[in-house]
Amino acid sequence: MRVAFIQTSPVFGDIASNVERAVKRIARLDAELIVLPELFSTGYQFRSRKELLELAEEVPGGYAVRQLAAAAKSRGACIVAGLAEREGRRAYNSAVLVGPRGHVGTYRKAHLFWDEKKIFTKGDTPFAIYKAGKARVGMMVCFDWVFPEAARTLALMGADIICHPSNLVLPYCPQAMITRSIENRVFTITANRVGVEERLEGKSLRFIGSSQITSPAGEVLARAGGRKEEAGVIEINPFEARRKRITPVNDLFGDRRKDLFKL
Ligand code: ACM
Repeated sequence: MRVAFIQTSPVFGDIASNVERAVKRIARLDAELIVLPELFSTGYQFRSRKELLELAEEVPGGYAVRQLAAAAKSRGACIVAGLAEREGRRAYNSAVLVGPRGHVGTYRKAHLFWDEKKIFTKGDTPFAIYKAGKARVGMMVCFDWVFPEAARTLALMGADIICHPSNLVLPYCPQAMITRSIENRVFTITANRVGVEERLEGKSLRFIGSSQITSPAGEVLARAGGRKEEAGVIEINPFEARRKRITPVNDLFGDRRKDLFKL
């Protein structure tokens, strides 16, 4: 199975061109599963909740999801992308999965980062697993990486691949995702963005790129640089993630000491 990330550099608020550029990149990729960054259609740093609500879209009826669904259909691919989702007067920092037959599922970011807390509503969707080709995939969004329970929950639910749209500003995540992969024996695909946004005075955000695909053994199969838009594509066997045995007598899930854990 060929899987990919697309690392982008969105122009804040220019939904038409951000979506068009992403769709053009999708059209050039030969992959069955493609992951795009968090908030790929709008950009990241909203000045207010009002601005966010103006730019957010309804899911699945909105513009970006419809364009992604058309791209998924013409490529015969599944696409995971982060976007601002509007529901009434609320906005969620969401990830959607679309496939050749349209919208498949939505995940609303559970752990909001920094100023996101002022404008987004925290996610209320339970973690879920979907089929993408032969693989079972789950979604989490950016800062969810720092809460190992998110990836663990997806792995316990049967994810082979964790799709992770991101807008990373802190430097630690690419290294941490190696651990998320090892400790759950799953593939992870982090799709990040590059560029700088300073739409709030004195709050300049530089996004670190470094999008990455990691194997259940913790190998970095693909990693992007920190400055440019680029794509990474790799062939994987998603069933490798179903072997949770570490030694002949150690099973990653079977050995968990739930009797001692405080969760
Ligand atoms: C983040 O959650 N966008 C850092």
